[in-house]
Amino acid sequence: MKILELEEIDSTNDYCKRIDCGEDIIVTAHKQTAGKGTKGRSFVSEDGGLYVSVMRHFAETESVETFKIMISACVAVCHTLESFGLKPVIRWANDVLVDGKKICGTLIENTFFGSKITRSIVGIGLNVNNELPEELSEIATSIRRVTKTSISVREVRNLLIKNLQNDYDISDYKKYINWFGQKVLLKRSDGEYSATALDVDNEGRLVCEADGKIQYISSAEVSLKI
Ligand code: BTN
Repeated sequence: MKILELEEIDSTNDYCKRIDCGEDIIVTAHKQTAGKGTKGRSFVSEDGGLYVSVMRHFAETESVETFKIMISACVAVCHTLESFGLKPVIRWANDVLVDGKKICGTLIENTFFGSKITRSIVGIGLNVNNELPEELSEIATSIRRVTKTSISVREVRNLLIKNLQNDYDISDYKKYINWFGQKVLLKRSDGEYSATALDVDNEGRLVCEADGKIQYISSAEVSLKI
């Protein structure tokens, strides 16, 4: 796949959209000036972090495959972190934590035509050596903070790019989940619920039990510390 390295850009995801001419590409940047997070939030993207977007095009791929795209990105990040001695955990759906703190976030922007996915842009922001804002210090971490050494962002980048080109499946994804059977807090548009997390099904839904009922959750924010 074509790989492009930028010094600074507003957002690697937005850049992919602007240059899209049907070619698959991986774009990385050392810094983003308007990094985007999920739910319309901004994503602080200082120098020292790794900001990557993978843009892929599909012809005959059903939308249900979107979960597989997400899985592959999360597992690629986890494998990369393990190579540097870290012990990553996936927080459903697509955050990666180390020591209970978020080290990587993923913003996936898919385009559909009918029941098919036509384009997927997987944006990954990984904290490597970047300083974390003071207000995030309780909930975020970086490779440098965990390993207490500055490691080469280039080395992390190259390994992540290699891993992103592999295909992974749900069993690889579940290897990084250590919280099945535990209580989680689900934050949804209509309120917050406590539930016991049981599984992630083959469609990517979080399977939970609350008040004796099994629920299949497609969208929520999950807090693992309750
Ligand atoms: C989140 O945790 O809210 C998701 C953060 C996703 C950040 C990445 S960095 C590369 C790509 N470009 C963006 O503007 N966002 C994603």
